[in-house]
Amino acid sequence: ERIPALLQAMPKAELHLHIEGSLEPERIFALAQRNGVSLPYPSVEALRAACAFTDLQSFLDIYYAGASVLLTEQDFHDMAWDYLIKAQADHVVHVEVFFDPQTHTARGVPFEVVIRGLKSACDRAERELGVSAALIMCFLRHLSGDDASRTLDEALPFREMFIGVGLDSSERGHPPEKFARVFARCRELGLHLVAHAGEEGPPAYIESALDVLRVERIDHGVRCLEDPALVARLARDGVPLTVCPLSNVKLCVFPDLAHHNLKALLAAGLKVTLNSDDPAYFGGYINQNYLDTFAALKLDVVAAYTLARNSLEASFVSEARKAAWV
Ligand code: ADE
Ligand code: ZN
Repeated sequence: ERIPALLQAMPKAELHLHIEGSLEPERIFALAQRNGVSLPYPSVEALRAACAFTDLQSFLDIYYAGASVLLTEQDFHDMAWDYLIKAQADHVVHVEVFFDPQTHTARGVPFEVVIRGLKSACDRAERELGVSAALIMCFLRHLSGDDASRTLDEALPFREMFIGVGLDSSERGHPPEKFARVFARCRELGLHLVAHAGEEGPPAYIESALDVLRVERIDHGVRCLEDPALVARLARDGVPLTVCPLSNVKLCVFPDLAHHNLKALLAAGLKVTLNSDDPAYFGGYINQNYLDTFAALKLDVVAAYTLARNSLEASFVSEARKAAWV
């Protein structure tokens, strides 16, 4: 079959990747040992066994426990470098990496340690791997808008080290409106804006992410299909959706890949991209998402080119660089 070979070899961008979600269980245990952190799981096997998720929150509980082993600049660098090597192998030419500073600053790890470790890995990837990598700082939506604002204050001295902000963590009960003020500040600062919406939450959260937060892309967004007027708007405005099929199945948004709504999203004319979300937890990196989804939904070569092209076009690189790509 030529489609799997094409999917693997196509140049692509990854636009929805939580770097803390790229920590493999073996790495979590090695870091726990190195840093003297104790984990609620006795072994790699026990941690893997706990990864039978029932919804987003059941995943987040383990994801935050896993991230608790990160303490030093070197830890953050090593985590990002491991991921960037894998991205290069998957022919990712550009990646916009999410990170969750509040998960770390709440444990006493300085913001500066987090961002310096991640940024040095991104810069090294550009030099040594030919992969361009930029950082997007995410606010945790289960925390308050004021907490997010304080995080932005801490980030200001490092403004040049990240290109945008996002919104992640527990979606239900935490509407975008909570973060209207901090996103308005970020907009003033010229930061790019994205938000998770319509993963587990209702289509109304996608609308308020656009209208209240004024985001440029929607992360996930798969529940938009429940609102035809919203679908028409997303299609008309070319709002990119960063869809993560393996994540959606692991978190029980869809029962299996054959029931994923990707085909309907494409048929509706939406600017869909494929991404890995938290690859260490969800069973595969970006090419695995492409391969498994194409097999389950019997997608064709046209869909392959469309998705890869969308990923490059939906990225935040300069128009000049995009023109050279597509
Ligand atoms: N944090 C890490 N992965 C996430 C996801 N899929 N949704 C919300 N928050 C997250
Ligand atoms: Zn995500």
